[in-house]
Amino acid sequence: MLALDRVGKTYPNGVNALERFSAEINLGEIVAIIGGSGCGKSTLLRAIAGLDPASTGSVTLDDIRISAPHEKIGIIFQEPRLLPWLSVADNIGFGLSHLPANVRREKVARALARVGLADKATAWPRELSGGQAQRVAIARALVPQPEVLLLDEPFSALDAFTRRDLQDHLLDLWADTRPTLILVTHDVDEAVVLADRVLVMRPRPGRLFEEIRVNLARPRDRNTPHFDNFKRRVLTALDRSLDRSVPDEAGKAGAGEAMWW
Ligand SMILES: Nc1ncnc2c1ncn2[C@@H]1O[C@H](COP(=O)(O)OP(=O)(O)O)[C@@H](O)[C@H]1O
Ligand SMILES: [Mg+2]
Repeated sequence: MLALDRVGKTYPNGVNALERFSAEINLGEIVAIIGGSGCGKSTLLRAIAGLDPASTGSVTLDDIRISAPHEKIGIIFQEPRLLPWLSVADNIGFGLSHLPANVRREKVARALARVGLADKATAWPRELSGGQAQRVAIARALVPQPEVLLLDEPFSALDAFTRRDLQDHLLDLWADTRPTLILVTHDVDEAVVLADRVLVMRPRPGRLFEEIRVNLARPRDRNTPHFDNFKRRVLTALDRSLDRSVPDEAGKAGAGEAMWW
């Protein structure tokens, strides 16, 4: 289990980016984090990844305190961040240099096949489309079989069609080994199609505002009234999170009930 206990972050310039963020996330759960820009989503993700540790509170994974990058936690950013001087295969194998060459080759080949890019092993990153490059980034992150995969708006730079394709693909990959996924998004549809739980944050300082459980069976059909209902709930929570006249407690109490009156 991943436990976030009152995680807070104040940057050296005094910006209080995140305050007392607590959540317990079970292995295999898919959690979406949504909220206005600047509400601390990336700060939270970097703290979980151990890239930029929290200034208060703690992040623990199976009772291991995370304060630096950890092999069980992978992260994918909005841009694929591939190394331009390495082939696609070498990008994927980059973190595997401790393994014998034949084992590494096989893992890379399997990962490439799994993301549908077996024919791109020797290509250069610049020869890939945006969607293909992001697939390579996903393959690279999954090769070490992380327990937790963090994704920071991974599809937001892609066109709508490619985005949907990759959302489906991500779910396929998730079903292989069922890691915990924590996905930052500003796309309500994406949150509801993917997540078991949507955590809505609010800004200044960044904090948790509301939690919405999406208990829809998978695969999810976007064209049902149920799906629309969940989207509406998330949208309403987002609107309220940005309305300064709404107190914090209005979000936390009753998680969703309040909006049906
Ligand atoms: N390295 C940093 N130094 C100082 N302030 C930062 C830094 N990174 C982010 N911030 C500030 O912290 C707040 C939260 O930022 P961020 O986590 O990037 O939000 P989000 O990802 O939700 O848009 C913002 O006010 C942002 O300007
Ligand atoms: Mg961000």
